[in-house]
Amino acid sequence: MEELVTIILAAGKGTRMKSDLVKVLHPVAGIPMLAYPIRVAQETGSSRIIVVVGHQRGRVEAAFHDDSIVYAHQEEQLGTGHAIAVTEDLLKGYAGDVLILCGDVPLIRAETIDAFMKAHRGAGAAVSVLSVVLDDPFGYGRIIRNKNGDFLKIVEERDAGERQRKVREINSGIYCCDASFLFGALKQIKTDNDQGEYYLPDIIGIAVDEGKHVQAVETADFQEVQGINDRVGLAEAEKVMRRRVLLHHMTEGVTILDPEATYIDGDVVIGRDTVVYPGTHIKGGTKIGTGCIIEAGCAITDAVIGNNVHIKTACVIDECCINDSVRIGPFAHLRPRTVLEKDVSVGNFVEITRSKIGKGTGVNHLTYLGDADVGKKVNIGAGTITCNFDGNRKQQTVIEDNTFIGSNAALVAPVRISRDAVVGAGSTITKDVPEKSLGVARSRQRVYTDVPERHRSKSGK
Ligand code: UD1
Ligand code: CA
Repeated sequence: MEELVTIILAAGKGTRMKSDLVKVLHPVAGIPMLAYPIRVAQETGSSRIIVVVGHQRGRVEAAFHDDSIVYAHQEEQLGTGHAIAVTEDLLKGYAGDVLILCGDVPLIRAETIDAFMKAHRGAGAAVSVLSVVLDDPFGYGRIIRNKNGDFLKIVEERDAGERQRKVREINSGIYCCDASFLFGALKQIKTDNDQGEYYLPDIIGIAVDEGKHVQAVETADFQEVQGINDRVGLAEAEKVMRRRVLLHHMTEGVTILDPEATYIDGDVVIGRDTVVYPGTHIKGGTKIGTGCIIEAGCAITDAVIGNNVHIKTACVIDECCINDSVRIGPFAHLRPRTVLEKDVSVGNFVEITRSKIGKGTGVNHLTYLGDADVGKKVNIGAGTITCNFDGNRKQQTVIEDNTFIGSNAALVAPVRISRDAVVGAGSTITKDVPEKSLGVARSRQRVYTDVPERHRSKSGK
């Protein structure tokens, strides 16, 4: 295979985003948009990927580290031509093909780039540009051809004359060039345009003047080459990308009841025969097994979920590990570092954080477990609370196998309930309860029989 280097332009601020965050780090389907062209570059077999960074370069560089990625620094954004020129030192002695992608064009697909590269190599062109015909070409650089259809140059919207503006074939901002031609041509481009910038597209006119072969390779899908310039474009790209993600899961055997109302991030993995109800957000690096049911309105982030898990309506699950055949919800809140072993059942209005719950245990109603290590086959009664915060730090509660915690118990940590023990309902437990014993900590009920008439219930009369 011929060698390929990809350069991705990502130095601009993205002024029209009106954001404190540099444009290329804005997420599309939960992943910073720059990740998409980087993936395309990897999939098309680039031996090196050079990302040109400028604005918030530290943040951009921190977001992507991979041995195949090198960063080039463009201190001042003097134009797309200048941005490519700053990579010259990194490419000294390289004479192969250079693919140029944009950090703000995330919808481009590897298959489209493969076809484009094939056309470039097949034609032996010095430069190829990926073009597309738009109904509304406003804002894009136009592909200018002569009467015979020969590609002559690219003219930006703001530099275009009236006739040129009518041209509907536009420059996608994606190019493939011969490296030795590219850096020679960049030295010749000028800033005699409306923005006073070094325009990369000017290399086309230079190649034509030098008698080199250039071509615009048209692609059919205009969505793929849409550049994101503002929040409206961001929302449009979001919609397209989310649809692609859902199509992928549906193709792989996941039932999505309403694709219009389901939000799944690009890196999420879901097993076959899992059913996802509407209004659900599945985010980050979440992995879900096979045969699960995720009911309406759940928000699941960075969780690992086994097979045959049933998550009922309106649960929030963050950074948890949930094993096979667990039942959760409705209305449960599982916070980071929670591990639910097999066959656990967590019911409504239960909050669990930094806790491990053993196999077959039930935590079914109105409970808070924090910093708890709960064994197997435990029954946690309704309203049980681990009092895990002593005012200074978090303390551990250990609840061993086969214990029974009566309703409305307050377990004041640090405390241990040993195996087969029982805690009486309504107890405030401050001391350990040993194996097979009963811990009760509440005032005794007293019954008075000689109650004066005025204190007795008037109801039922
Ligand atoms: C550019 C093209 C236009 C094309 C359009 C496609 C130029 C002059 N025009 O216009 O023909 O139709 O893309 O989307 O190239 N960048 C840098 N350093 C700079 C300037 C830009 O890294 O000095 C980066 C930006 O961060 C961005 C990309 O290059 O990722 C494109 O720049 P942008 O200003 O968005 O160009 P457009 O006006 O969209
Ligand atoms: Ca752009």
